[in-house]
Amino acid sequence: MGRSVNERPVLTPGTFYHRLSNRYYQVTSGAMARHQLDAGGHPINPMEKSVTLAIGSGNHAITYVHRTSQGRLLELPVSWYAKTSGYAMSPGYDRAEHLDFRREISASCLFCHSAGAEPAAIDCRRCHGAVQAHRQRPQRGNILNPARLAPQRQLEICLQCHLETASQGITDSLRRPGRAIFSFRPGEPLPDYKLYFDRQGAKANDRMEINHAGYRLLQSRCYLESGGRMTCTTCHDPHAAIVRKNACVQCHTRPHREGDCVGCHMPKRAPADAIHTEMTDHKIAQRPRFTNPIREDFVGAEPVVDFYTKSDRLSLAFANLQEPDTDIYRAYLTRDPQNEPVMVALGKALLRLNQPRAAGEVLGKAVRLNPRDTDALNYLAVSEAVQGNHRKALEILVKAVAENPDHTLARINLGITHEALGEMAAALADYEEAIRLQPDSAEARLRRNGVLQRLPR
Ligand code: HEC
Ligand code: HEC
Ligand code: HEC
Ligand code: HEC
Ligand code: HEC
Ligand code: HEC
Repeated sequence: MGRSVNERPVLTPGTFYHRLSNRYYQVTSGAMARHQLDAGGHPINPMEKSVTLAIGSGNHAITYVHRTSQGRLLELPVSWYAKTSGYAMSPGYDRAEHLDFRREISASCLFCHSAGAEPAAIDCRRCHGAVQAHRQRPQRGNILNPARLAPQRQLEICLQCHLETASQGITDSLRRPGRAIFSFRPGEPLPDYKLYFDRQGAKANDRMEINHAGYRLLQSRCYLESGGRMTCTTCHDPHAAIVRKNACVQCHTRPHREGDCVGCHMPKRAPADAIHTEMTDHKIAQRPRFTNPIREDFVGAEPVVDFYTKSDRLSLAFANLQEPDTDIYRAYLTRDPQNEPVMVALGKALLRLNQPRAAGEVLGKAVRLNPRDTDALNYLAVSEAVQGNHRKALEILVKAVAENPDHTLARINLGITHEALGEMAAALADYEEAIRLQPDSAEARLRRNGVLQRLPR
């Protein structure tokens, strides 16, 4: 376990040019900035955000975070990598189109990177449960000692954060209906909290990702054939996170060879989703295979199957959705009526089916549940606009961009609404802001050019 969220990040000034997206980044001691150059070499599309927090122990990478004045956390596009002692794009950003300054650190990121919903370093409670009683009167029995749990329950304390089958591309897990994010308690069975999914055929693939220690270990023969005895703490000290000496010979009492077992059987490799760093492959193998991480990506749409947990038909159908499906969303909401993200998905799907009234109803409910959800606000406004209620749409979009000024889509929709109301100067300003937020937005550029052509010169 690292400490993950760090409230006092220290930054080394530096610069980084990202060729794929043609952006220049500067890191100063307290902020991160970006610009591009126009044909004449003049800086355009400037953006700057202060650095408020950092994520990561620094053993591999440190990613910086900006807290907006509305209290949202945004992941910043450039990270620091220990391997090169320098800056490069953050994990997942090394492509032509990336989220730049717009990726929100959600509560689900914080579940693994923070003690709780308010960003703070991970503390004793995540592995030992409530510590109040023990603090007041330190004695045996009034605090959870993971060593006394069944090995699987102990393993799952670590897996709550260290099990992820795929960081992008599929629904890799689903919380059980009614389970709030921070409701997992150490010692309870992990499958009661979450279901996990993986691509069919993934086990035959050598893909390794940054957070794959649990995923790969669970596929190793050492784990599978040691009768449930192997946990993370078989090798790791849970507090110092270091690997115990002679970890392997606990079981391989008469190894075929002396020496560095780990160097041969658990080599470090570049993970597919963060190629600037190297992690230990926990799928312990006789002859580990090194593949090119960039070519490990999945192509096509393999079906999704259970991993580690056993799911029900509806959850599996939900995880397998390639296209929005209103029937499945509705069935899911019948079982989990307060699931706000599914409501938003249903609302979007209904908009696509040209059912704006029904969409407006479900999106309105989502907004009442979570008034800060800018996606919900944005699509609610769209449902009003397509019914011709532009004033109503404007009102909602103004709320959305006040709540989240970095939401490009809401900004573009605000421009479209201003256009519909004949307010061309305001529309132009909206599209220009959208381009500054997201220089690769073709939609914002097209619409800006459209307005420019119609404006009197
Ligand atoms: C609340 C989430 C959480 C739990 C629970 C957790 N970890 Fe971690 N662990 C992390 C994160 C996040 C990192 C990445 C480093 C960082 O960001 O500080 C990490 C890093 C590590 C590291 C690498 C050390 C480093 O500093 O890079 C080891 C080893 C580790 N964890 C082992 C464990 C073991 C063993 C358990 C169970 C006893 C466990 N972790 C439980 C979140 C967690
Ligand atoms: C299921 C738990 C989990 C979730 C969800 C999760 N992470 Fe992580 N993340 C980890 C762990 C564990 C590591 C460290 C992996 C290791 O050292 O083996 C990590 C590594 C990272 C790193 C590399 C820096 C480092 O600590 O080495 C970044 C950056 C990061 N995560 C950001 C995010 C963001 C942003 C989100 C939300 C979009 C997110 N993570 C969601 C568990 C998680
Ligand atoms: C990442 C999970 C994790 C975190 C965080 C954590 N512990 Fe532990 N702790 C464990 C595990 C697992 C064991 C059982 C060790 C074993 O299997 O030998 C343990 C054992 C202990 C023990 C029993 C004695 C021992 O060392 O074996 C004490 C005392 C303890 N922890 C105190 C703390 C305190 C105090 C904190 C907060 C500062 C803390 N732990 C944070 C996982 C954790
Ligand atoms: C909890 C017990 C346990 C520990 C600890 C353990 N292993 Fe294993 N390992 C096994 C079992 C059981 C098997 C399968 C039967 C066999 O080959 O002995 C196995 C198999 C293997 C294999 C063959 C893998 C294959 O796919 O054919 C290798 C290589 C291996 N272990 C190396 C290691 C190394 C290196 C370590 C330390 C980093 C280690 N093991 C730690 C129990 C363990
Ligand atoms: C068989 C021994 C063994 C087991 C079991 C094991 N690890 Fe590791 N782990 C290692 C070794 C060896 C390293 C590399 C240590 C180093 O480089 O100092 C490592 C490194 C790590 C790191 C640091 C980042 C990296 O990939 O280099 C994390 C995080 C981690 N392990 C998490 C876990 C978690 C979580 C579990 C349980 C799901 C686990 N490990 C089980 C042996 C083990
Ligand atoms: C120089 C690299 C190297 C080192 C060091 C090494 N191994 Fe291996 N090991 C291999 C290779 C290669 C194989 C495949 C079988 C073969 O060709 O001997 C293997 C096979 C194995 C197997 C499966 C076959 C068997 O004999 O059961 C286990 C288990 C194993 N090693 C454990 C260990 C342990 C434990 C250590 C450390 C004490 C260790 N190895 C050190 C390279 C190494």
